[in-house]
Amino acid sequence: MTKRVDHNESENSASFSVWNGRDPSVPLGKNDHLLKWVEKTARLTEPDSIHWVDGSIEEYDELCARMVKTGALIKLNEDLWPGCYYARSNPDDTARVEDRTFICSYSKEAAGPTNNWEDPFKMRRRLKELFAGSMRGRTMYVLPFSMGPVGSPMARIGVQLTDSPYVVVNMRIMSRIGLPVYAEIDKGEKRVVPCLHSLGAPLAPGQKDDPWPCNPEKYIVHFPETREIWSYGSGYGGNALLGKKCFALRIASNLARDEGWMAEHMLILGVEDPNGEKTYVTAAFPSSCGKTNFAMLIPPAGFEGWKVWTVGDDIAWLKPDSDDRLRAINPEAGFFGVAPGTSWKTNPNAMATLSRNTIFTNVAITPEGGVWWEGMTDEPPAECLDWRGNVWTPEIARRTGAKAAHPNARYTAPAAQCPTIDPAWEDPAGVPIGAIIFGGRRASTMPLVYEAFNWSAGVYIGATAGSEITAASTGVQGKVRRDPMAMLPFCGYHMGDYFRHWIRMQRALGETPRIFHVNWFRKDENGDFIWPGFGENMRVLRWIVDRVRGRASGKETPIGWAPRYDDVDWTGLDFPKEKFDRLQRVDRSAWRAEVLGHEELFLELHDRIPAEMIYERELLICRL
Ligand code: GTP
Ligand code: SPV
Ligand code: MN
Repeated sequence: MTKRVDHNESENSASFSVWNGRDPSVPLGKNDHLLKWVEKTARLTEPDSIHWVDGSIEEYDELCARMVKTGALIKLNEDLWPGCYYARSNPDDTARVEDRTFICSYSKEAAGPTNNWEDPFKMRRRLKELFAGSMRGRTMYVLPFSMGPVGSPMARIGVQLTDSPYVVVNMRIMSRIGLPVYAEIDKGEKRVVPCLHSLGAPLAPGQKDDPWPCNPEKYIVHFPETREIWSYGSGYGGNALLGKKCFALRIASNLARDEGWMAEHMLILGVEDPNGEKTYVTAAFPSSCGKTNFAMLIPPAGFEGWKVWTVGDDIAWLKPDSDDRLRAINPEAGFFGVAPGTSWKTNPNAMATLSRNTIFTNVAITPEGGVWWEGMTDEPPAECLDWRGNVWTPEIARRTGAKAAHPNARYTAPAAQCPTIDPAWEDPAGVPIGAIIFGGRRASTMPLVYEAFNWSAGVYIGATAGSEITAASTGVQGKVRRDPMAMLPFCGYHMGDYFRHWIRMQRALGETPRIFHVNWFRKDENGDFIWPGFGENMRVLRWIVDRVRGRASGKETPIGWAPRYDDVDWTGLDFPKEKFDRLQRVDRSAWRAEVLGHEELFLELHDRIPAEMIYERELLICRL
């Protein structure tokens, strides 16, 4: 506790090389609150040095080069993967930890039954114990970031204090960081969300560092009233890149409720028709259920003149504009995408995006210094090192079932590199939204596509959406769980209040977006997907856009409006009517069981469920 943290004549400054012509220990921000908070945190966590992140490319290169030296990163073959790096995580730190994620509101009620809660005073005491000395032997980075284009009225700012350089370089891709954000903070117009992050792996003098430091004990903690985030023990994705799920969803959902907007786990895309008319839609699918793929869709042959533009692949902030139209921004600047299954066949836009200046985590590395993952090519490499660093061959895989890449292996790539990035993707005002799509991974029951009768029926569809659990979080895989609006792990307050907020949004909108539900994952009796998916999803998207524009017909079913076979554009695809009918089938007995599944969630939330949800459920039961 005796360590001096004096920015002007830091006793540590000797240990810094001078980067970019300046001493990184000298604070870049002038904001008093920020300086005091940095000092206070340094006294608690006792880092060896403090680095004020400027966000420059020189700084990024230098940090990567240092990590290559310590073994935290591997530089990929520059000829094959220019500007790319490879990281291998600790085998016990590969995904979000939902059971270690807490919403510490003053009252347990406010967090609701779907979140883990702990008394905020008790939690703060516990965190202070954990963070005490937790950065010893490391550098603490002061990382200012903006979620949303800097200066956009919809953007929000945060500062992450972290002892992980891996986090700094990933955040440089995923958000806007550095000097322009200090300037925003210095203006003093926007409240700064403090985000404190430690790997929980202090180094004793002379101790050799681990390539992926972390702690078996993990805490991902949100204080919604004071708008604070504390994350301990993990270096991975949503646990550690605090701008993403922690800020842009869990804290932002609280801001949004209070301020009349929405923070959602949604992709944003624009569909341009042959006349050049553009319709933007958002889609909420749970983790690892196809948002990135849908956001980068390439229309199949036969859809000449149609084009899909990408605005975002994971998070949307939606707000009514001065004309009461719903507008959306993507608060992120990069894609933290699922690698396995991504290929030139299924998602060429993602492949082009990740071909340079990308950080890969937990994929496999080839002897040539390239990367590989299951589904990337038809032909696997003859040999590679898997995500744990063990030798992997197709033969070993056949014998043991070992995967070369972890199922939740990811790439961190700049959005600006996406060939279909929308010209308006950084428009500070956002893009106008015509439709909202919900979806999930459902082997049965849910048709390919249907449209809600109206807003409240649509909110009911989103609120009761279910999906099979994927590898994006730790836990049982494959089981269907209710995942309202794909926000179960991300809503920072009571889910019943969240539904109420959705219902209430209608009153702020001159025209509500139409609401749809899709399911690319329905299976036949042999367990094969009935729908080819990916680019072919354009046929569904076209019907959706045409419905929004009042150009497409549909038939009434007990659950909503659905396309007839002839309402879908089948140009270039031989897809028999009998198969389509199977995909679209609304099986009344399966649906009655489905509605009982809805009840599970409703019982949990009973005292806060808006009346509309109860009525919608009754109406649905009557129609079935
Ligand atoms: P997060 O980043 O975790 O929030 O996920 P995401 O929703 O962006 O997931 P992503 O698009 O990366 O989807 C990952 C998985 O869905 C991969 O296994 C894909 O192969 C699969 N997938 C995506 N689109 C389709 C589709 O149309 N059909 C089928 N069958 N699989 C799909
Ligand atoms: C998700 O799990 O929904 C993701 C990946 O987008 S992570 O950032 O790790 O949460
Ligand atoms: Mn996600």
